[in-house]
Amino acid sequence: MCNGDDMQTELENRATAPEGDHVTDRLGRPMRDLRLSVIDRCNFRCTYCMPAEEVGPNFPWLGMSEWLSFEEMLRLVRQFARLGVEKIRLTGGEPLLRAHLPELVKGLRAIPGIKDLAMTTNGILLSLYAADLKEAGLDRVTVSLDALDETVFRTMNGGFDAPAKVLEGIEAAQAAGFKDIKINTVVRRDINMGELVPILTKFRGSDVVVRFIEYMDVGNVNHWESDQVVSSAELIDLISNQWEIEPVAKNYSGEVADRYRYADGSGEIGFVSSISQPFCRPCNRSRLSVDGKLFTCLFATEGTDLREPVRSGESDEELHDRIAAIWTQRTDQYSQLRWGGKKKKDGDKKIEMFYIGG
Ligand code: GTP
Ligand code: 5AD
Ligand code: SF4
Ligand code: SF4
Repeated sequence: MCNGDDMQTELENRATAPEGDHVTDRLGRPMRDLRLSVIDRCNFRCTYCMPAEEVGPNFPWLGMSEWLSFEEMLRLVRQFARLGVEKIRLTGGEPLLRAHLPELVKGLRAIPGIKDLAMTTNGILLSLYAADLKEAGLDRVTVSLDALDETVFRTMNGGFDAPAKVLEGIEAAQAAGFKDIKINTVVRRDINMGELVPILTKFRGSDVVVRFIEYMDVGNVNHWESDQVVSSAELIDLISNQWEIEPVAKNYSGEVADRYRYADGSGEIGFVSSISQPFCRPCNRSRLSVDGKLFTCLFATEGTDLREPVRSGESDEELHDRIAAIWTQRTDQYSQLRWGGKKKKDGDKKIEMFYIGG
């Protein structure tokens, strides 16, 4: 538990973003979010992310010596915070496979300017770590859950484990005191369409928000095809046959999901429409891979290495300037251009979702 002094420090950190040198990119977009990948491995093999037939036992994972240490991550995040980052989302692969994660959370919590500290997880290990993560200062968790039916779940997620274990993880997070938990459900037309109403039914009337995500053409190994995508508009029609729902304004500029609520007050549903309604215009997200590469777009081909400068002894000021220089040159708007005939060619290498954490 926090003692009084810790609590005071935490409130001060959240209230006072550091003054001054916040950056914007060439389209005037600030850098507000940092998605921090803490590991590239995962205990699932979701078909839309790292299908088992593509990512098998001989896959060339990053070696542990290539991973940024927690100290290296914290050093970099301090510079991101000076440049305007207020929200950190821990991602993977599966972030809970990184040992001692609560220690990293504690370190991040103490960085001035970081107001929101969240994590996206597949939930399988969440019941083990929820209480420690909460105590360490994590604010929010988002749990991926694509089906309640065991067979469909296994088809979506690569044949591992069971939805009951994910539900246990969600309950453990609630018991640990996490509020406003979100569920991410990726929708694939031929696989889990029949699961959407059951998932909504399960969480309707709670403060858990289910968000449906259009299957994206991210990475290469999922062999994405557009016929598997179900647009949010189609989902809204489908859900409206069952319940009356109405749109709600976004919580903040740059929020990825469009929000809807049940007209009878039973809670909210979100829709992430990267394919049918791209949201690059306000995109303020930066991404750091576990081997220390900074990416300015989920669909990037290359990142900029920050690990070598950290390891070769660059000063904080030099690191700060290096990150600022990358962001101020940024022009990314991949999803927006995708349907303007500028889609990457099939042979173009894109970074994989599990490497950059979505
Ligand atoms: P909140 O902080 O709760 O608003 O969550 P979030 O939307 O930032 O995070 P989450 O990891 O839950 O992301 C939801 C989905 O949106 C995932 O499938 C992400 O891969 C996808 N997503 C997040 N950011 C971007 C983005 O910048 N571009 C695209 N195309 N997809 C994104
Ligand atoms: N399309 C849409 N969402 C995806 N995710 C992983 N791969 C894809 C994809 N190809 C989701 C995961 C997780 C989040 C970080 O990204 O389900 O919830
Ligand atoms: Fe693992 Fe998440 Fe990718 Fe599924 S989507 S394989 S849980 S990293
Ligand atoms: Fe941001 Fe790139 Fe996603 Fe567009 S496609 S919203 S620029 S990360």
